[in-house]
Amino acid sequence: MNTKTTVISQDELNTQFACCDKIAAHWQGIGRTPTAYVETYGCQQNEADSEKLRGYLTQSGYAIVNEAEGADVVIMNTCAIREHAEQRVFGNLGALTHTKRRHPEQKIFLCGCMAGETKVSDRIKKSYPHVDGVFSTHHLWQFPEILWNVLSRKKRQFYIEDEPGSIAEGIPQVRDNTLKAWVSIMYGCNNFCTYCIVPYVRGRERSRLPEDILAECKCVIEKGAREITLLGQNVNSYGKDLESGMDFADLLAAIAELPGDFKIRFMTSHPRDASEKLFDTMAKYDKIAKQLHLPFQSGSSRVLKAMNRHYDRETYLKKVNYAKSLMPDLVLTSDVIVGFPGETEEEFEETISLIQQVHYDSLFTFIFSPRPGTPAASMEDPTPKEEKNRRFDKLCAVQNAISEEIHLGYVGKVMPCLVDGTDKDMLTARTEGGRLVRFIGDASLIGTYQNLRITGATTWSLTGELAD
Ligand code: SAH
Ligand code: SF4
Ligand code: F3S
Repeated sequence: MNTKTTVISQDELNTQFACCDKIAAHWQGIGRTPTAYVETYGCQQNEADSEKLRGYLTQSGYAIVNEAEGADVVIMNTCAIREHAEQRVFGNLGALTHTKRRHPEQKIFLCGCMAGETKVSDRIKKSYPHVDGVFSTHHLWQFPEILWNVLSRKKRQFYIEDEPGSIAEGIPQVRDNTLKAWVSIMYGCNNFCTYCIVPYVRGRERSRLPEDILAECKCVIEKGAREITLLGQNVNSYGKDLESGMDFADLLAAIAELPGDFKIRFMTSHPRDASEKLFDTMAKYDKIAKQLHLPFQSGSSRVLKAMNRHYDRETYLKKVNYAKSLMPDLVLTSDVIVGFPGETEEEFEETISLIQQVHYDSLFTFIFSPRPGTPAASMEDPTPKEEKNRRFDKLCAVQNAISEEIHLGYVGKVMPCLVDGTDKDMLTARTEGGRLVRFIGDASLIGTYQNLRITGATTWSLTGELAD
């Protein structure tokens, strides 16, 4: 695995823009506007990468469409986090043989985290001849060149070499949502949690320069963004690889000082690196949403050690309690894994008790999925599948009851919410903590902050009405 970082120069990017021009000219020669479909799996990092792919495609003359059928380019931006995610991609990739049969000129690409696994690219080389190109996340900045090579040489392209992790500034982006903008602040991960594939497929941690991040934030605010979500696998270690002297809390403060009516969110925070300074900064600025996604993974210190998480139950709880003491309305969410190899019934019960102690608003719950090549995949795992499923169901039931209880506590309160869309004949809005509220109102309210009185609650969402 290559551990270096490389900054892509303007000249190198210009060669990509030249390929965009060649592709656009190619389609002008044919005399029709080509179409492209990008399907995104996995986390917000992939959503952000897809916005860049759509940016490149738009610059190359493509119109972005919402389905694979009939599209001239189909890109699958994939996730490798669990086996199930990969199976879904292979299933959908197989189904594309039919769309290609009906539209033989269709060019199909697979990128994202699965493209960083040799076993995946080998399987595609051998068994998926209808796929025209595979490129790993390190090569995303070269997409125009890859597409041009496919169009002009009529040959499959595999850009999967283990390159240094790249930082490329200035790739055009077509954002999905003008109200809510994703802004990547760093790429990769150094943590090597023993169950996780991300460090192997996304490379080492590398931070964008603060000035580039601030410029992007200013730009999205000027274009109407009301929420900015800062992205990284471990945002709390932002800046460690730079000489700017700016850590994540400093970066948050600098963004919060920008003029405009917006809120800042961020994910994901690793508990080891979440500092008191971070919580102090969150508490200080109104523009930083009082919402924290702080994955704990397990309530057992022994399991946390086996996971290589570098914190224990006590330090985790201490940090959460400190954050809550500063921000009583803090909305807390987390990720948790059930059935890590060797997890005993008692250790699972420690997870349950931690959930009850912290009282999360909601949880992302996962059953351990062995990822080939990671240390946990070869750990002894005597617990039967049925037993893991039982633990998982119990965990979900405990959490659902807590979520419902917290949501019922909102009923009667008036909360400022960002109106962000529609759902059937109702409008949707988000509380500052990110909770979904449905209410009746005029579509002209979309994009504004409104005070909503909460009138009803379920485990998953709230209903409300305009308070003023
Ligand atoms: N960087 C983030 C998480 C990224 S992956 C962090 O460290 O918190 C999102 C979640 O997927 C993880 O928090 C973990 O709960 C889950 N996950 C990762 N690998 C997994 C695996 N092999 N099996 C089951 N869940 C996994
Ligand atoms: Fe995976 Fe751990 Fe990195 Fe998160 S911090 S991406 S769980 S290795
Ligand atoms: Fe999946 Fe890659 Fe994100 S493995 S969760 S898409 S970083």
